[in-house]
Amino acid sequence: MTDEDLDPERYYDEFAESEWDRLDRDPVTRMEFDNTTDYLADRLPESGRVLDAGGGPGRYACWLAERGYEVEHCDLSHEQVAIAREKLADRGLGDAVTCRQADLRTLPFETDSFDAVCCLGGPLSHVVDGDERARATRELRRVARPDAPAFVSVIGRLAMLRDILTFSVEEAHGLLAPVAADGDYTAERVREFADGEGWAECHGFRVDEFEAELVDADFEVETLVGLENVAARTKRELSAADDEAVADVRAVVRRLREDRTAVDVSEHMLAVCRA
Ligand SMILES: C[S@@+](CC[C@H](N)C(=O)[O-])C[C@H]1O[C@@H](n2cnc3c(N)ncnc32)[C@H](O)[C@@H]1O
Repeated sequence: MTDEDLDPERYYDEFAESEWDRLDRDPVTRMEFDNTTDYLADRLPESGRVLDAGGGPGRYACWLAERGYEVEHCDLSHEQVAIAREKLADRGLGDAVTCRQADLRTLPFETDSFDAVCCLGGPLSHVVDGDERARATRELRRVARPDAPAFVSVIGRLAMLRDILTFSVEEAHGLLAPVAADGDYTAERVREFADGEGWAECHGFRVDEFEAELVDADFEVETLVGLENVAARTKRELSAADDEAVADVRAVVRRLREDRTAVDVSEHMLAVCRA
């Protein structure tokens, strides 16, 4: 594996088709989707133009278009954009959504042009450099109309460390200390500490840091949500559990989802903001 294989654009081009299943693979990924759409349903305006930035294969774009929104979908990966177009067309939603290849750091949209902005499932985490990420966050703020809601979810650092521990503690324990210190899972570190075997480069957030970066970009953070919280890293266990057990876990995750510690331990943390 080379450093380029861990480059987010290349990584998401390569795994484009499997990304469509990302939010429907097991009870934990479904919690990410269901908890996110709960907040979308509650805080979105009744109608209007919505941005789905870093929208990947288009699950949220489909959800939004099905509810009557005019959606602009964009993603860095041209393969993800192609799949989103296909999935939307299959569902008869092609006319409601425009899909294009674009980078969060330079969004090709007018200032104050969206009634709501979404950047879900970790696109901002894939902008590892802090200054570049600040630029991308300011771009999300720039294109939102004053007072528009923004929904941003990123990857949690503590769950990322659990991932390294669970899947590759023998081969990759050297990654734990640097990633714990600054959250940066870079190709350079994967080369040094994990023989180059790894996932797309990303930045894992602590909750305080996530909130501070959004405030720096001039968002007002209304609610922070731990999308999987106590169920983080239990995909295998919950996939084998019966429906009643899964329903109990879902109820507990729902009850705890705005608890700040539960946000911090989540695989994905969502911020519901206002521009
Ligand atoms: C885990 S996927 C999430 C996709 C979708 N929002 C979802 O929740 O299923 C992360 C997406 O962010 C995209 N991405 C990464 N860096 C990006 C950037 N700088 N600009 C735009 N999209 C980016 C990737 O191509 C990928 O499709």
